[in-house]
Amino acid sequence: MAISKKVKDALEGASWVRRMFEEGEELKQRYGDGNVFDFSLGNPDLEPPPSLKKALKALADQPIAGMHRYMPNSGYSETRKAIAHYLAEESGLPFEERHVVMTVGAAGGLNVILKAILDEGDEVIVPSPYFMEFKFYINNCGGEIRLVETNDDFSLNLREIERAIGKRTKAILINSPNNPTGVVYDQRSLEELGELLKRKNQELGRTLHLITDEAYRRIVYDGTKLPISFLYYPHTIRVTSHSKDLSLPGERIGYIAVSPYCEDLDEMISAIVFANRTLGFVNAPALMQRLVAPLQKNSVNVRVYEEKRDLFYGSLKAFGYEVIKPQGAFYIFPKAPIEDDVAFVKDLQSKRILTVPGRGFGKPGYFRICYAVENKVIENALPGFKEVAEKYGLVGK
Ligand SMILES: Cc1ncc(COP(=O)(O)O)c(C=O)c1O
Repeated sequence: MAISKKVKDALEGASWVRRMFEEGEELKQRYGDGNVFDFSLGNPDLEPPPSLKKALKALADQPIAGMHRYMPNSGYSETRKAIAHYLAEESGLPFEERHVVMTVGAAGGLNVILKAILDEGDEVIVPSPYFMEFKFYINNCGGEIRLVETNDDFSLNLREIERAIGKRTKAILINSPNNPTGVVYDQRSLEELGELLKRKNQELGRTLHLITDEAYRRIVYDGTKLPISFLYYPHTIRVTSHSKDLSLPGERIGYIAVSPYCEDLDEMISAIVFANRTLGFVNAPALMQRLVAPLQKNSVNVRVYEEKRDLFYGSLKAFGYEVIKPQGAFYIFPKAPIEDDVAFVKDLQSKRILTVPGRGFGKPGYFRICYAVENKVIENALPGFKEVAEKYGLVGK
């Protein structure tokens, strides 16, 4: 066998999201696209804001000389300056261009920061349920994922995190708003996390890093103000992208922002730029860097997702499902009425509804719905969710 053992093992544990996606394709061939209700893949259904199209057209009409050439590995100065300005305004911290490195989406950014900090066998703590790709990204860089349970409402469990911190811990990686739960970590939990990490640094005699995956940062509801993790812990590194807020996932544009107060700041930034180059990304897509620079305060209409959240959450509750109300992202993560989440997801499939079993996110007994789809898909699927709820005696509970 030519492929590595590591990749072979990873392929054998194939992603549940992908598996559901493939089974969904079969269903679609059998019943037709419009008759299958696909909530499996987190692919935003909204178009980018009109401002993006305008900027794209302007650039095509008046190209800038050399705009397709190689550039510094960290990205264009004008883009990094615009982002630093945005971050400084948001946080009140002295962000400058040098604190920002443009990356190939948040996925590229996560691989870059992990490569920059991990040695073979180092551990990264990740609260679960979690975005499964984290495991592979950490593994890519020779690290080990160390999962910790969250509380029943999927908030951070500080006690579990404290217990997991050990000799090999290098960083903790959190994701808020969260995929798959839609939960937002509140200010208090981030303050407490910051305090815990500072205390642990003293005990360990070295510095742990906090990596925050904020790919859904601007997709928040009910007027929720997302706390700024940079304020509660100096060694914080934010990884994010415009995949969701500007609906550009196929364009692969994101960035890493290192707190101006991060330990060994210059070395850290050099390591990030080196990893970006040598992982083969070289630099983030040029055209997109130009386009997103002036759009730092723009985003898709988040109300559209909020309405879908309301529709789904309200209906699932009415059908008797146990579910935490998501405050952001575009996922909802109800408890399956039976222990076997795979069997339950198959029940939904019999109604031509595609979801992903919770075990695909480290949490068996639950299932994930991605509601970044047209309203009519949700409306047409609701009777199926109700029928399955009835089958398990949930309705009216
Ligand atoms: C939690 C989380 N992090 C990172 C990513 C990757 O985002 P990007 O498209 O910017 O690489 C995703 C994509 O779904 C995600 O859900």
